Amino acid sequence: MKILVTGGTGFIGSHTVVELQQQGYEVVIVDNLSNSQADVVDAITSITGIKPHFEQFDLIDREKTSAFFKKHNDLSGVIHFAAFKAVGESVEKPLLYYRNNLVSLMNILESMIENNIPNLVFSSSCTVYGQPDVLPVSEKAPIKKAESPYGNTKQISEEVIFDTVKSSKLNAIALRYFNPIGAHESAKIGELPIGVPNNLVPFITQTAIGLRNQLSVFGEDYNTHDGTAVRDYIHVVDLAKAHVVAVRRMIESKMKQSFEIFNLGTGTGLSVLDVIKSFERVSGEKLNYKIVGRRAGDVEQVWADPTYSNEELGWKAMKTVDEMTASAWKWEKVYRGKR
Ligand code: UFG
Repeated sequence: MKILVTGGTGFIGSHTVVELQQQGYEVVIVDNLSNSQADVVDAITSITGIKPHFEQFDLIDREKTSAFFKKHNDLSGVIHFAAFKAVGESVEKPLLYYRNNLVSLMNILESMIENNIPNLVFSSSCTVYGQPDVLPVSEKAPIKKAESPYGNTKQISEEVIFDTVKSSKLNAIALRYFNPIGAHESAKIGELPIGVPNNLVPFITQTAIGLRNQLSVFGEDYNTHDGTAVRDYIHVVDLAKAHVVAVRRMIESKMKQSFEIFNLGTGTGLSVLDVIKSFERVSGEKLNYKIVGRRAGDVEQVWADPTYSNEELGWKAMKTVDEMTASAWKWEKVYRGKR
């Protein structure tokens, strides 16, 4: 059972490779290292004792992608993480995002069909729901117009996959992630944004370790319990485990339809201040933060209805917010050599 993990040296990808290997899958990673580092392969190896096969190339290169798939035409499935994901950057450079995220997907789909590789798991996002009218948000909620080119690439990708599945023997599962945070308990892999982090938790841990001066909390005038925006934070290892379940579901032909969609969240909404309080509680650190204006493009509140995933996949996010922030903090300290 050989699985290709694109973006396998990235944040969610690396945690998923570990879970796959620990469940007995052989893993091949393809990553162009545009937002990750090659030594993640060694970190994975030191956790699992198994070195994943790694190839560095860009999946927007059609020839290289095609050659790769010809060589690995015995794959049981593909988990496709590799994509650009910075919302703000996508507004500045939409074409970069459309080309990177869509061309790579199309190259992969073409190669999968050519080589009769039947199963695709796709990294999607709760961003497709925009600000939902009903909370918690289930998979039946309507897709709203995307707030950013990044979000639009996720919507378009789902449509491309849907149409491809209809016209071929391909099966696909789109997993719509809420807000993945935290790190592996070994602290050998974690979230490692290049440059100034866009996301809340790496900004918190980098501020606490002294790399950033102060965290800006974007907005306290939202219609939420404390005025700050609410999200469904999910531990990256819980998220990674859902990918293994999805792959197994496909391999064991348990799918109800050839294209399925699942929400991956905990079902609990937490505010920015709730996350900061959790971090302060588990770390014993006082975080330097300041309330500033809202960030453009942010929705007020979104959290998942994970009922369908829980029942249909037999999967549930287990880790608490304190486990999430504690693991993120442990990773930051180990990575910076302060522990
Ligand atoms: N936030 C701050 N200060 C920061 C960073 C974030 O207050 O320095 C706030 C944001 O305003 C937001 C919350 O923390 O209210 C979470 O922000 P993140 O950037 O961590 O996450 P987002 O919910 O904005 O984005 C995530 C993913 C995107 C995805 C989006 C869908 O990172 O890829 O969810 O909602 F598109």
